[in-house]
Amino acid sequence: MRKLFHGISKMWGVSAEQGRYRSGAEMSEVEAFTSAWMLVDDGVIVGLGGDEGVYGEDVVAMGDAMDLERIDLGGLEVLPGLVDSHTHIVFAAPRHEEFEMRIRGESYEAIAAAGGGILNSARKLQAMSEDDLYVQAAERLRTMIAHGTTTVEIKSGYGLTTDSELKILRVVKRLKQDFDIVIKATFLGAHGIPMEFKVEPDKYVDLVIEDMLPKVVAEGLADHIDVFCDRGFFTMEQTDRILKAAAAMGLPSKIHANELGLTGGVQVAVANGSWSADHLEHCSEVEIGLLRESMDMGYGGTVPVGLPGTSYFLGIPYAPGRALIDAGLPFAMATDFNPGSSPIASLQVVWALGCTQQKLLPAEGFYAVTCNAARALRCEKEVGALAVGQRAHFFTTKTVDAVKAIPYFMGQNHCHEVFINGCLFV
Ligand code: NIG
Ligand code: FE
Repeated sequence: MRKLFHGISKMWGVSAEQGRYRSGAEMSEVEAFTSAWMLVDDGVIVGLGGDEGVYGEDVVAMGDAMDLERIDLGGLEVLPGLVDSHTHIVFAAPRHEEFEMRIRGESYEAIAAAGGGILNSARKLQAMSEDDLYVQAAERLRTMIAHGTTTVEIKSGYGLTTDSELKILRVVKRLKQDFDIVIKATFLGAHGIPMEFKVEPDKYVDLVIEDMLPKVVAEGLADHIDVFCDRGFFTMEQTDRILKAAAAMGLPSKIHANELGLTGGVQVAVANGSWSADHLEHCSEVEIGLLRESMDMGYGGTVPVGLPGTSYFLGIPYAPGRALIDAGLPFAMATDFNPGSSPIASLQVVWALGCTQQKLLPAEGFYAVTCNAARALRCEKEVGALAVGQRAHFFTTKTVDAVKAIPYFMGQNHCHEVFINGCLFV
């Protein structure tokens, strides 16, 4: 039966056009309906309206004739489910000891170079069973959903052996089966260089390309490939090799770029038609210009994704979100939820950090964690906005004037109820 959601004081993030994302100045005002309703058929929006107009089927014009399940949302405001385009939620344990080392003054890079960091997480993950990893990751996912996130990209990368990388991606496959939200899997075998390959890192790159990648693809375990292209990790040339090998097997790319320095990540991403370049804590006019040019290229452009939780947690610069938007780009943001650089599950917190630290307007922050983040995953036709043809993923909030108030009242969970495909998430 069709569902009619009504009693909505304000519905934010509506759009006349399925799959529309926003660039530059288009991000500064959020389209909304007041006294709104939404008609849902089999989990998909077929009509929505309010005082400002109607998109799709007009339930008011149909009167009482239709057989409908009516759901009164009690005068609350509604937002589209948030989209987290960059996470590493399959991990074995927190890294409390490194948190304290960094507070005492050690740097993230120095800890990593000494065999901590990603290698520390890899040792712990290699020793843990797939079932135990699944239980923990599912719990993290439930926390994220409770904070309004209904699309999640999940990377491997704490395995660093063929078996353990496959183990992580099988956990993600199970999460896809068990949760009705949209989940995308990313193979990040090139996340760190294991100690035994430190002298000849190219041999590890060979392993990623010749052993891991074909197995990941054969089992259909990944939607994209990723590489940590940065100082002390993978070079531009190694990244380029991996992305080209993956592309030849049909995997699009999104990469970790310029977290630790101006290391050519954006150049590799654009040259390979990557869907997004994430981090960008180091990003000059040259990189911004290149990203701008990419928008007119045949593949549709590389979305710049800022991860302000990482900058906050590591005490490193923030991506130049303001400058990227002023350059006309569809800037997006994600949590980067992981045990080393961003133990942050909530996109509401990321939205707030984007406003205070990257000088985004609340409206710009909203688009950065909804339709633009969906664009970074090339699933903007499915999620990230409330439009005809898109999934009925949304949440209600008791917070008044939510798009302004959520990033303002940081640190609280503003979600009241979360709906996935029009069904209440419990
Ligand atoms: O996106 N930078 C690379 N990967 C993660 C952090 C990994 C870790 O420290 O465990 C990130 O920040
Ligand atoms: Fe990351």
